[in-house]
Amino acid sequence: MTEDKGNRYKLIISQADFETAIMELYDQFAEQYSYCSLWRTLSEEEKKHSSWLKGLAAKLKAGEVGYENCSFLIEKVQKAVKTIRDFVEKIKMDPISITEAFLYAEKIENSLYEKEYLTYFETDSETLKSTIEILIQDSEKHRDMIILEASKYKI
Ligand SMILES: [Fe+2]
Repeated sequence: MTEDKGNRYKLIISQADFETAIMELYDQFAEQYSYCSLWRTLSEEEKKHSSWLKGLAAKLKAGEVGYENCSFLIEKVQKAVKTIRDFVEKIKMDPISITEAFLYAEKIENSLYEKEYLTYFETDSETLKSTIEILIQDSEKHRDMIILEASKYKI
């Protein structure tokens, strides 16, 4: 694998890891706020996103999709993954209220790193482009679901 392709591969794998970290966050919320079924639904969706990206990474290995140099973006995503995983560890010890959980989840769904990825695609990366577009749409859908659910908990 050339250095550039190695980077592209690493970026998609990092993004898959980001989706997995969000899934872990929602799993933790599902455990702590078991009366709210939204968390389980969102966790399933993030699991799906992660496996799509892993599938794309496998295609990239076969040379079907590509990125420009993107090491700074890889670093950014990996940092975000660490932040989420540290947060999950923290709330296991020191739980937050469901209202705070909604706010955190909304912030995550709003971060939309995927939008930045779009600027890195080569024109022949239609499969990757359409997958990332679905990821963006799903994040927007998730954010709306979180806001709607959160409104039920307002006093
Ligand atoms: Fe996602």
